[in-house]
Amino acid sequence: MSAAQSALFQRLFDLTGKRALITGASSGIGAHLARTLGQAGADVVLAARSEDKLERYAAQLRSEQIGAEVVAMDVTDAASVGAAAEAVGAVDILVNNSGVSGHEMLMDTAEADWDRVLDTNLKGAWLVSKAFAPGLIAQQGVILKVASILGAGLGVLKTVGPYAASKAGLVQLTKAMALELARDGVRVNALAPGYTETPINAEFFATPAGQKMIRAIPQRRLAQPEDLDAAVLSLVGPGGRATTGTVIVVDGGHTLAIS
Ligand SMILES: NC(=O)c1ccc[n+]([C@@H]2O[C@H](COP(=O)([O-])OP(=O)(O)OC[C@H]3O[C@@H](n4cnc5c(N)ncnc54)[C@H](OP(=O)(O)O)[C@@H]3O)[C@@H](O)[C@H]2O)c1
Repeated sequence: MSAAQSALFQRLFDLTGKRALITGASSGIGAHLARTLGQAGADVVLAARSEDKLERYAAQLRSEQIGAEVVAMDVTDAASVGAAAEAVGAVDILVNNSGVSGHEMLMDTAEADWDRVLDTNLKGAWLVSKAFAPGLIAQQGVILKVASILGAGLGVLKTVGPYAASKAGLVQLTKAMALELARDGVRVNALAPGYTETPINAEFFATPAGQKMIRAIPQRRLAQPEDLDAAVLSLVGPGGRATTGTVIVVDGGHTLAIS
């Protein structure tokens, strides 16, 4: 790589000296993004409920020369979030990635299931952002919310009503938070992935219905978590300093085909 190339990469993406907290880092996209931010130079704090899984993953990341700590956190529980924020202290980058879904039609959805999805995906993102806001303001940091094409105002499907509603709320939360925190020097953006192969959906995509859905994606393939890296680094990296309140869709053209 030439000196000019490496200076360019540094100006856009270098996270050396930054500390990033990723919720839902015990699995799937969150675990992957923690490694990506670490590879870009950040020290990472892995947050989720499964502390054992986080500890094992942090050890793996440390063996790859990535600074990694762990904090147990249930994003639906304000006391758990508050305790985690106190234990961790200030971070420069917050990734609100924790998310769950249901599988019922709306009229068959139990109230507890509605609450589980909305509390995790929407309220949880707000609770965690609020708890870490003082440190983010002090560090002039950045927040990234992992939304979904199902919440980006582009189309919806049956049996994911609470999930789609939560992610649509998350997109508006991103914009409202970006507006309110701009003067404090904190940027807030969202990523809206299309179907990306992870434990949340691997079983489904192996079924005939899942295979049919893959064929409906113009690129005819599921994204892999690493396909999200360029968008994520452009949003949280120094090159994104003028970008706030934005949603980037990474979906293999899927939303072009949702009617
Ligand atoms: N995969 C896709 O196709 C896709 C597409 C668009 C958007 N997304 C979004 O991407 C994010 C990650 O999805 P994924 O596919 O990687 O799912 P995943 O593999 O099931 O991971 C979900 C993560 O969320 C954490 N989590 C769940 N409830 C939590 C809670 N109450 N408190 C703290 N953490 C909690 C889980 O950790 P613990 O269980 O250990 O707490 C886990 O680490 C989600 O927001 C999802 O909606 C995914």
